[in-house]
Amino acid sequence: MKIGVLTGGGDCPGLNAVIRAIVRKGVFHYGDTFVGFSEGWRGVFDNKTEPLDLTRVAGILPRGGTILRTSRTNPAKREGGIQRCLDNLHRNNVDALIALGGDDTMSVALRLFEAGFHVIGVPKTIDNDLSGTDFCFGFDTAVEIATEAIDRLHSTAEAHNRVIVVEVMGRDSGWIAMYSGLAGGADVILIPERPFDIEEVAEALKLRHSRGRYFSIVVVAEGAKFAELVTGDGSAPIVQDLGRDEFGHVRLGGIGNILAKEIERRTGFETRAVVLGHVQRGGSPSAFDRVLATRYGIGAIDMIHRAEWGKMAALRSNEIVSIPLKDALGATKKVDDRLIEVALGLHDKIGTEPVEQHVITST
Ligand code: F6P
Repeated sequence: MKIGVLTGGGDCPGLNAVIRAIVRKGVFHYGDTFVGFSEGWRGVFDNKTEPLDLTRVAGILPRGGTILRTSRTNPAKREGGIQRCLDNLHRNNVDALIALGGDDTMSVALRLFEAGFHVIGVPKTIDNDLSGTDFCFGFDTAVEIATEAIDRLHSTAEAHNRVIVVEVMGRDSGWIAMYSGLAGGADVILIPERPFDIEEVAEALKLRHSRGRYFSIVVVAEGAKFAELVTGDGSAPIVQDLGRDEFGHVRLGGIGNILAKEIERRTGFETRAVVLGHVQRGGSPSAFDRVLATRYGIGAIDMIHRAEWGKMAALRSNEIVSIPLKDALGATKKVDDRLIEVALGLHDKIGTEPVEQHVITST
């Protein structure tokens, strides 16, 4: 078969490991040939292709980013965009397409499948918020980077008697914040799933410092929300600007700085903010992610040869399985309540509201 491959949306450590596994098993076991579509759906829309063979994938296993590059292009938003993609796929004699991406990329894959094309998906996001799969590759690497940063920030916070607020990625869910916060021993963890009361955050920090601790680490997901800013639909994150990408997303970021000011004002503790940002997406994938990504890649090429069209590879109970693309879309995978209980179990109950309303912890 001739198979097209693309990577869409934000990049993520492990994308190259998936591409490598797809190409190697495709060539060695099925006699396939491949074509790369450059820069996500833009490559299909604009017919920008590149060679994808054994030579091209040699040596890419430990490399971050994606050799095919990526973009947040949404052909469905453009006049005749889906038909133009279909025409370009046929022009390249592509029998099937593997789309690596998050829910945005998968939504376009689903449109092509519904139009009759042979498409399968591989889930990707450091945010780990795609429903239908237990873990996405790239998440482990991002958590490692954030945890190392928290460890480092501990020592400087302690030296200066400071509170340090660490802003991590996580648009709709707080997986990176929760995992890195737990692994790094953060004193407060704030996630989008549980809007927080700034007074309770300040109270938690004052309580900890009254016990003789003179520094604190607060981990906040970029999409976390101040309870007092929550609107009727429950969503009022801090945004950097209101411009939207082609999938309708505003740019998040900035909550860390605002939070640091509000904490300092309420507690009198000197407070600093650190925004980890895209550092979390860059660099070499962890060993865990290289293996997981390789398993996803092998799973995807096997799905192609079982003709499982319109499906996405997924990790369920440590098995790679396939699920309908439409089941993977729509719902965000939220941080597990049991994990939130773990974080809450480590610290005092504070505040007058039921403690399960907030993920605020303090020692
Ligand atoms: O990949 C998801 C994500 O990491 C979100 O957490 C974040 O909001 C977004 O990407 C930022 O992406 P970019 O700045 O590349 O558009």
